[in-house]
Amino acid sequence: MRIDIITVLPDILESPFNHSIIKRAKEKGLAEIYIHNLRDYSENKHHKVDDYSFGKGAGMVMAIQPIEKAIETLKGERDYDEIIFTTPDGKLFNQKAANSLSLLENIIILCGHYKGIDQRIRDHYITMEISVGDYVLTGGELAAAIITDSVVRLLPGVLSDETSALTDSFQDNLLSPPVYTRPAEYKGMKVPDVLLSGNDKLVDDWKHDQAIERTKKLRPDLYKKFLDD
Ligand code: ADE
Repeated sequence: MRIDIITVLPDILESPFNHSIIKRAKEKGLAEIYIHNLRDYSENKHHKVDDYSFGKGAGMVMAIQPIEKAIETLKGERDYDEIIFTTPDGKLFNQKAANSLSLLENIIILCGHYKGIDQRIRDHYITMEISVGDYVLTGGELAAAIITDSVVRLLPGVLSDETSALTDSFQDNLLSPPVYTRPAEYKGMKVPDVLLSGNDKLVDDWKHDQAIERTKKLRPDLYKKFLDD
């Protein structure tokens, strides 16, 4: 899968994809992630990418020209399945959306900034608008990192069987059960006996029950979905 991220702050996205699982996915050739500096596409002599908004209203707006050029340049090189814009007024991102995106070949993520982008870009180029939560970030870069991370880890071959994404929280609208490691007892705090029993069936049943209990207690909204689906 190829992900092209267009941003005015490429430095923010230097680190998130250069560690651990995502780094290995890139090294194995399972994911290609390219960061594009929007300023490189500006035809303004000062590489400006924003301007005052028409009508009354405070704040700068990301201008149409550099974004149009960046998107058109990329589209001229390959077909894209989705052109995503990160914005607090987008559709709330969740595991199901990550699963769907992980099936695609090429996507562009345009990171929002300032007071928004010229609406004509949203109308004519953007195919999907995503919010990563009901709060406002300084820019869309962290949202793009969240989307990319959650999608890349789902690509076939990225995770081993042991860390399989199928057992992740949210995959069945359930949170993950609690986990423990050695020692079996620490300062009087014990690991549940069932996990030491060596009986796979008992362990699996316990984990499932715990996942249900946790979800019911911590995320009643998700538990309702689990019952309904
Ligand atoms: N940009 C600013 N806030 C955001 C959010 N919550 N989700 C996606 N992009 C954003």
